[in-house]
Amino acid sequence: MKTTLASQVLLALSTGLALVTPSSAVDTVAATAATTLTKANAASGSAPYRETVIRYFDRLGVKIVGGKPARIADYPWQVSLGVSWIADPYQAHFCGGSVYSAGWIITAAHCVSQTAAKDIVITAGTDKLGQDGERRNVRRVIVNPSYDGQSQDSDVALLELMAPLPLGPAIQPISLMTAAEEANWSWQAQPLSTVGWGATREGGQPVRDLRFVPVGLVDRGSCNGALAYDGKITENMVCAGNSEGGQDSCQGDSGGPLSASLAGKAKLLGVVSWGYGCARPGLVGVYTRVPRFAAWADACVAQSSSCQ
Ligand code: ARG
Repeated sequence: MKTTLASQVLLALSTGLALVTPSSAVDTVAATAATTLTKANAASGSAPYRETVIRYFDRLGVKIVGGKPARIADYPWQVSLGVSWIADPYQAHFCGGSVYSAGWIITAAHCVSQTAAKDIVITAGTDKLGQDGERRNVRRVIVNPSYDGQSQDSDVALLELMAPLPLGPAIQPISLMTAAEEANWSWQAQPLSTVGWGATREGGQPVRDLRFVPVGLVDRGSCNGALAYDGKITENMVCAGNSEGGQDSCQGDSGGPLSASLAGKAKLLGVVSWGYGCARPGLVGVYTRVPRFAAWADACVAQSSSCQ
């Protein structure tokens, strides 16, 4: 099915048709967007990026399971990663991300590992894709050097923005949970929260209005059980969800935050990474374990010229 869609796109592209000219509606985006779509910039990129491009060309009605509407003021670190040459931020959306600082975004490696920086635009400061918000082009994609695309181990990456975001009530960084904070049990009984513009059911479409869902931490042992993920959960992943199913992140939420509240302050514990389907009983969401990467991310941003 996907191969059919992909080959249709390739066919259309190989005819040499100029399929898209970017709108100048968003200046910062248009600045680096291609004027004519080429086979190379449309057909390459990470899987979520390619799926978005294919959906766009197929004119499919564009795009968190069991969640509720979320307001950006409650999750001001939430951003959308979009295809930079698709003008509508809703149609362009392919992954989530979190504001690390005014100039940096933390997201999932699988969202960006095969996608060039110039093909990504981020939208911050809004809970409605296509309305308000700040858009920024990306200068550099830094994938964690240990990322393994097969196992999804170490599924984390940083995006350096071309220009800093204006921080305010709708755009704020979230601090990364450290290894020392993770060891403190006080927060672990509290519900965690994950948020995104992803599908509201397995196989569904992304949504225009941001949603959140409360989830609970699931211990690695039971998540790795034979009837669950059967040993695929590494020390660099955390599981969170609801074992009865029904509440989960889903396609399009990847790269977005799993946050905990520590002494009333939000901390980034996870990055939406993978799962079998969405919200299935016994198969909770799998997230990158941020405390294992907090030191890497801090060092990378502090010494960005030497980071790769
Ligand atoms: N890999 C998906 C994405 O690219 C996220 C899947 C999360 N799945 C889950 N069941 N929690 O958007």
